[in-house]
Amino acid sequence: MNIHRLNSQEQPLTMLTCYDYWSAQLLNHSPVDMLLVGDSLAMVMHGHDSTLPADVDIMALHTRAVSRGAPDKFIIADLPFLSYRQGRAQAVKAVQKLMRAGAHAVKLEGVKGNRKLIRHLVDSGVPVMGHIGLTPQAVHALGGYRVQGRDNDTANRLVKEARQLQQTGCFALVIECVPASLGQTITESVGIPTIGIGAGPHTRGQVLVLHDLLGFNTTFTPKFVRHYANGADWLNQAVSQFVDDVHTGKFPAPGESYQ
Ligand code: KIV
Repeated sequence: MNIHRLNSQEQPLTMLTCYDYWSAQLLNHSPVDMLLVGDSLAMVMHGHDSTLPADVDIMALHTRAVSRGAPDKFIIADLPFLSYRQGRAQAVKAVQKLMRAGAHAVKLEGVKGNRKLIRHLVDSGVPVMGHIGLTPQAVHALGGYRVQGRDNDTANRLVKEARQLQQTGCFALVIECVPASLGQTITESVGIPTIGIGAGPHTRGQVLVLHDLLGFNTTFTPKFVRHYANGADWLNQAVSQFVDDVHTGKFPAPGESYQ
């Protein structure tokens, strides 16, 4: 997959978060189109209660691991909180670090105040993915993790922002947590692929956090998450079996020991 094939692909696009070498190796052989080293790793991998603690170094560390594990996948890395709001030079340095770590594109949240930077990055040969709707880096300004665009003003603004992102040169955009009808309106208003998360079935693609999809996260159960596996139970069963086998002397067996 590359950004030129994205728009011509007839099937809906698929993207999953990926934060480490181990899962990247497995996903490299999966049919998923794109991997996102999302700043959600601050929550999923590091136990923070928001994405705000992610910084460029952490994002680069995880991006490097993912790119080693998934050499055949198109990898997008999130620009973390405020890393692109401290002047162009700082932002470009952050992007350079993520691209040198193996990202093929970067994603940044919001539109206001970002358009000149996006244009500059695109003109510099950096594919940029936009992100509108619920933008988790603005969680405190938004008053929490809640559905966006239920009122007309916000809905109209989001449609306008999507068009602006396209005009500015974004190759795709994530739409997070908006009513399905708005996800459809935005998708029909732009010519670039829209990738939805909690944005209904009409976007050009869907993204989920891998750990949610696998059922490893039992405490986070928003409406838009579907568990395709019961990861937490599977892990507990395997670990309990191992502990039991050790306690009862069944592990290691003679065939698992050097003679
Ligand atoms: O950081 C992330 O995982 C994301 C997805 C929710 C799109 O931005």
